[in-house]
Amino acid sequence: KQQEFSYLYDIHEKANDFYHYYLMSTNNGAEAYDYLIQRQLTKEVLEVFQFGLAPNNSQLLVQYLQKAGFTSEQLVDSGIFYMADSGELIDRFRNRIMIPLRNSRGDVVAFSGRVFQENSEKSAKYLNSPETSIFKKGKLIYNLDNARLPIRNQNKVLIAEGYMDVISLYQAGYENVVASMGTSLSEDQLKQLSKMTNTLIFAFDGDDAGQKATSRAFQTAQGITNAEIKAIQIPNKLDPDEWIKEHGKDSFQQLINQCISQFEFNRDFFKKDYNLNDEYELAQYIEKVIELISQIKSPIEQQLRINDLVNEYHLSEAIITEQVNRARDIRP
Ligand code: CTP
Ligand code: MN
Ligand code: MN
Ligand code: MN
Ligand code: MN
Repeated sequence: KQQEFSYLYDIHEKANDFYHYYLMSTNNGAEAYDYLIQRQLTKEVLEVFQFGLAPNNSQLLVQYLQKAGFTSEQLVDSGIFYMADSGELIDRFRNRIMIPLRNSRGDVVAFSGRVFQENSEKSAKYLNSPETSIFKKGKLIYNLDNARLPIRNQNKVLIAEGYMDVISLYQAGYENVVASMGTSLSEDQLKQLSKMTNTLIFAFDGDDAGQKATSRAFQTAQGITNAEIKAIQIPNKLDPDEWIKEHGKDSFQQLINQCISQFEFNRDFFKKDYNLNDEYELAQYIEKVIELISQIKSPIEQQLRINDLVNEYHLSEAIITEQVNRARDIRP
């Protein structure tokens, strides 16, 4: 821990204990607790991930932390509170299920708060701490503290979008799971993970946002890692949490077994844009696939994909190979 910011770590640790106690051990926590149980989180998992609850409209946490000796300025620095014009300290998180965000050493450095009541649709589903001296959103990888050893041991990491996906996967028996905290995986996050393993598996949501995130993550990874990268395709726009609940964990393992390469992902991603019954569009699509094949690093995979194209559209292998080489040579 950096001495300079030790009070920020202390505030977060104390706030975390407070939120956790409020969820697990008070009557006011019952509704949020039931929501989580409804979502099939177990008590054990709420302990492992130290879920909590921020009270609604309350002075409780401020008083608790002030009694512990923290100044108003320190509390504002933590990002958990802000100062009203009146000079009063206000909790940023109210009536939200609190998920502590830990750095890779396991220190709580921020929170994400989720709404849990029917009528709370107007507010953002998740509210995160602002960036502070100890929390940089694009650098934090959710659950890396728990997942580090399993990632090294299995030499593989599953990367999901969200906290709930990590937890569902953990409950399904996968411990080498982390989340990017939102839809875009940063260069920094990719670099951190590539240092620990040479197999990265994207397990983003099956909806359009998740597909775009997968496409972007593949692009970001180009040139910054030599790790093997694959993506899981989840049907029906579901996310890993939803898929496991509907189809079970064995079925998720099948999706992992069927994970695809960047080339396959891009080919399918672009295929939707073309009407392949139209010869002109078919030709354009094939040109696009040739360009994608020319970007494949492994000569073996490249040859396999050329074979696929030749067989699927009854083309001349010599011509396709020539086009692939040309596409590669004209790239800047
Ligand atoms: N996220 C966020 N702020 C939002 C929405 C999403 O920070 N307003 C981040 C959260 O880290 C979230 C992730 O993006 O876990 C993925 O978003 P989404 O798929 O919408 O949420 P889920 O993880 O599926 O959450 P839940 O299952 O609770 O609805
Ligand atoms: Mn506990
Ligand atoms: Mn999503
Ligand atoms: Mn999701
Ligand atoms: Mn979800």
